[in-house]
Amino acid sequence: MKLPIPEYIASIVPYPPGKPLDELERQYGISNAIKLASNENPWGPSPRATSAIAAVLADLHRYPDGSSYNLTQALAKHLACPPEMLVLGSGSNEVIEFLVKACVQPGDEAICSHPSFLMYQKFVQIRGGKNIVVPLAQMRHDFKSILDQVNDRTRLIFLDNPNNPTGSFFTKDALLQLCRALPPTLVLVLDEAYVDFVDPAQSFNSIELIQQQTDGPLVVSLRTFSKAYGLAGLRLGFGVMPTSLAAMLHRVRQPFNINTLAQVGALAALEDSAHYQRTINGTRAGMAFLREELHKLGCVCHPSQANFFLIDVGGDANRLYEAMLYKGVIVRSMYAYGYTNCIRITVGTEEENARFVTALGECLNELRYG
Ligand SMILES: Cc1ncc(COP(=O)(O)O)c(C=O)c1O
Repeated sequence: MKLPIPEYIASIVPYPPGKPLDELERQYGISNAIKLASNENPWGPSPRATSAIAAVLADLHRYPDGSSYNLTQALAKHLACPPEMLVLGSGSNEVIEFLVKACVQPGDEAICSHPSFLMYQKFVQIRGGKNIVVPLAQMRHDFKSILDQVNDRTRLIFLDNPNNPTGSFFTKDALLQLCRALPPTLVLVLDEAYVDFVDPAQSFNSIELIQQQTDGPLVVSLRTFSKAYGLAGLRLGFGVMPTSLAAMLHRVRQPFNINTLAQVGALAALEDSAHYQRTINGTRAGMAFLREELHKLGCVCHPSQANFFLIDVGGDANRLYEAMLYKGVIVRSMYAYGYTNCIRITVGTEEENARFVTALGECLNELRYG
């Protein structure tokens, strides 16, 4: 029997998630392992979010509010934009999927950088679209080469800012310059999953910019509760975009795509500014500590505006990843991205950062890297 599946689906390589802690502990017979592999928040969710979730558990026999009214209103107020500009998703991942579903027909093109967040390409492939992949130049999005690839089949351009996995960031001026050179027929997706961590001296308000824009491409900002808000397991992200585009995305989403727990949990997290600020401060302090310690170990650490670092360890990244697993530390090898000597690590708590540095020092010695 032959499966009635087109080749563009059969050839999709599934997304490789970071190794779960339970799996490592089971496989290696260790306990107390730490995971610095998935750019999560090591301080956990806001206690106000967990209480709000606990308070609605008895209502789970009811469908959620299909419009996520309370959360949407609160987000609109927080971001100073009309609620009609918002589209919520099960993680910002789902909003990427909506954008591709709404904009891409088989044969249409979408441009992204390599390396960048892998899911852009997968969703485009699922629709039978064509991925145009532009290599980063000196670890940054290469706007000139991206522009060279734009043609009348281009529907979407994905730019993660900061970029995952390098942590590099582009400025508002660079973005405005790019917008001026792009036709009005495409959607420019600014994936700002890590925007909360950006140095305030450099960050800019993309949502204001989207509201002010009168010509050029349609610009979308993607945000998430998975990083700074510590709710990766809840699955809540959103896109901010011109209302005409938002109306189209609402047509392709399921009526109840945001579950009840995500609606109340994210709302409570949004209101807990103290927890959010602790995360931002802890991330900045942890990144400064790691930068200094990695430098002492002789590793090249790429400048990052996110909650993670891409690190050149001076030897085979897969071997180092394995060696670190034996020490109970999960990092991400960037081997599959073509960075054969690089790992990516997420900032942890103070204790986790110290444990990581010790384990890395031991592994570099054992493997004789450097
Ligand atoms: C650049 C980027 N965009 C989007 C996401 C997806 O986040 P979410 O959990 O909101 O789906 C990630 C997750 O790691 C990411 O790195």
